[in-house]
Amino acid sequence: MDFQKELQEKVREVEEILGKYLPREEGFQKSLLEAMNYSFLAGGKRLRPLLMLECYRLFGGSGEIVEPFMAAQEMIHTYSLVHDDLPAMDNDLYRRGKKTTHAVYGEAMAILAGDGLLNFAFETACKAFSMGGLSDREAGRVGGALTILAKKAGIYGMIGGQAVDVEAEKRKLRLDGEKLLFIHEHKTAALIQSAMMIGAHLAGADEEAVRELEKAGYAIGIAFQIQDDILDVTSTLEELGKPVGSDERNDKLTYVSVYGLEKSKQDVERLSREALDILGNRRERNVFLEELVMSLITRRK
Ligand code: IPE
Ligand code: IPE
Ligand code: MG
Ligand code: MG
Ligand code: MG
Repeated sequence: MDFQKELQEKVREVEEILGKYLPREEGFQKSLLEAMNYSFLAGGKRLRPLLMLECYRLFGGSGEIVEPFMAAQEMIHTYSLVHDDLPAMDNDLYRRGKKTTHAVYGEAMAILAGDGLLNFAFETACKAFSMGGLSDREAGRVGGALTILAKKAGIYGMIGGQAVDVEAEKRKLRLDGEKLLFIHEHKTAALIQSAMMIGAHLAGADEEAVRELEKAGYAIGIAFQIQDDILDVTSTLEELGKPVGSDERNDKLTYVSVYGLEKSKQDVERLSREALDILGNRRERNVFLEELVMSLITRRK
């Protein structure tokens, strides 16, 4: 089957799974739940839950235990975007082709919707413990997956990266390649690594295999953020669904501002090939996963 068609079908499958775990919009806190679902349902590529599912399949996983973790991973990603767009951070008004959460629900509710998504992510992931017929060994894997999720989303992962990103603004610390790599690794690669590692771990992959996926996720994640920096310069609001020129306006430390467009493009390709080498050299293979990584090199959104 042709890749684009297969991708569409798989994203539809992922969306169906995600939909099962959303909170019902009821009770006195209804506005909060609406704001959470608004950003979650606004769309998005669903790359992280898709990577998780495909890494689960790579190691022969076939049960439902991965599903609450897919939802949790996308909730954490979505919360990171809701907070990233706040006036105090990147101050952006469009996301996933729609007005940002703070533009629609106000700043206070957007902060709470982000908090809500973060906390509900862990409530959701914990549902894996009460899924029918869980063996002790599987329960142990759920614990391990929670540990990965917590760490990669936290102060030594995404939140840490966002903090350094914010601090690096307007400091004229140009040509600071080491700090730039720290930012890209933590704010972006961490959640991609988390998705891939959790998929593998839940399927019973051993530690060595999970470490290999962490390395692949590093390369994919850095390449993904470099491409995001490129698109901030070369795309349009219509195509991208979020404002372009946001990095320039905020005087961000980006790959393009440090290395220029040409080297940025080359490095997206180089890093993606590194990830493909790791995936291609394993005994277990997942052709769709490899095609997905390949497609990110030329993504336009
Ligand atoms: C945007 O992530 C934030 C970055 C880490 C660059 P995505 O480009 O995956 O955003 P959605 O989920 O498709 O909206
Ligand atoms: C954000 O990086 C990464 C997050 C953890 C949210 P950006 O600020 O470049 O993401 P976009 O371009 O707003 O999606
Ligand atoms: Mg940002
Ligand atoms: Mg931003
Ligand atoms: Mg960006």
